[in-house]
Amino acid sequence: MVRTRFCDVFGVEHPIVQGGMQWVGKAELVSAVANAGALGFLTALTQPTPEDLAKEIARCREMTDRPFGVNLTILPSINPPPYAEYRDVIVESGIPVVETAGFNPAEHLPTFQGGGVKVLHKCTSVRHAVKAQELGVDGISIDGFECAGHPGEDDIPGLVLIPAAADKITIPMVASGGFGDARGLVAALALGADGINMGTRFVATREAPVHENVKQAMVANSERDTELIFRPLRNTARVASNSVSREVVSVLDDGGQFEDVQELVAGSRGRTRVLEEGDTDGGIWSAGLVQGLIEDVPTVAELVSRIAGGADELINDRLAGLVR
Ligand SMILES: Cc1cc2nc3c(=O)[nH]c(=O)nc-3n(C[C@H](O)[C@H](O)[C@H](O)COP(=O)(O)O)c2cc1C
Repeated sequence: MVRTRFCDVFGVEHPIVQGGMQWVGKAELVSAVANAGALGFLTALTQPTPEDLAKEIARCREMTDRPFGVNLTILPSINPPPYAEYRDVIVESGIPVVETAGFNPAEHLPTFQGGGVKVLHKCTSVRHAVKAQELGVDGISIDGFECAGHPGEDDIPGLVLIPAAADKITIPMVASGGFGDARGLVAALALGADGINMGTRFVATREAPVHENVKQAMVANSERDTELIFRPLRNTARVASNSVSREVVSVLDDGGQFEDVQELVAGSRGRTRVLEEGDTDGGIWSAGLVQGLIEDVPTVAELVSRIAGGADELINDRLAGLVR
């Protein structure tokens, strides 16, 4: 089996991470990831209040006795959520690792470090990765342009971003964005990473708490079926292509402002109509280019063992056979 220093530092069997996912990163998925020997993250802000996060952590613990983490997505906002209270719940619940994302984690580090919580910081550029390393985080998740969610504004795909980051990062680093199978894991290792982080691929698993239609849409979709919304606002997000995301792109390209698309992109539409009710044209939902590699909806255990076992075979058979 492939084991890297990431496994040793973060206490998991496989160098495979399930990144935080709004409305998807709940106990059902995260416990399945933990039970499969990988590192899963509950998504703090999916829980409406810090008290609900504490309950979700307890619910996840009922489903697994293995370690799991919590994602804290830091978004600049006029009415920010009570980050300090979410942070305190994470520390008080004895969570061993947090995935920070979205913004510089400096403000949150003293509490986590003081509470013995390891920090895996996810970012989309080498300069932000270097900054986080200087701040003292324990690991980096470097997220390329292929990814679902927020790829940043630099547009550097993993093939260059991962080795460029590996040249500067000395702490454990996982590669993110576009990973979904054993080939991806082996490629990430070859590019200098210590493992992979996946979002989209984990949505198309049996345990992901989203409607079956969304999973089947991911199977049907190709690598061409995403849209980059909010580009003109410099807050790019990669989402599945559908009538709503295409309309958002068109309105903003024609000079529209956020207010003109606000109703279309409402989080409640994405959550209720798409993820819960299964209307894949009902709102915005995050998905990455890796949809082009998704052919089925396995259990999490099947997926993780397929990737871990497949990587082993790929290295020992195909790659070793090429060295003469
Ligand atoms: C449905 C969905 C929701 C996501 N929500 C978040 C989020 O709230 N916070 C975050 O840091 N990343 C979020 N992400 C990004 C993932 O954690 C991960 O970084 C990304 O999906 C990796 O790229 P991939 O989809 O190509 O595997 C989301 C991804 C998906 C697919």
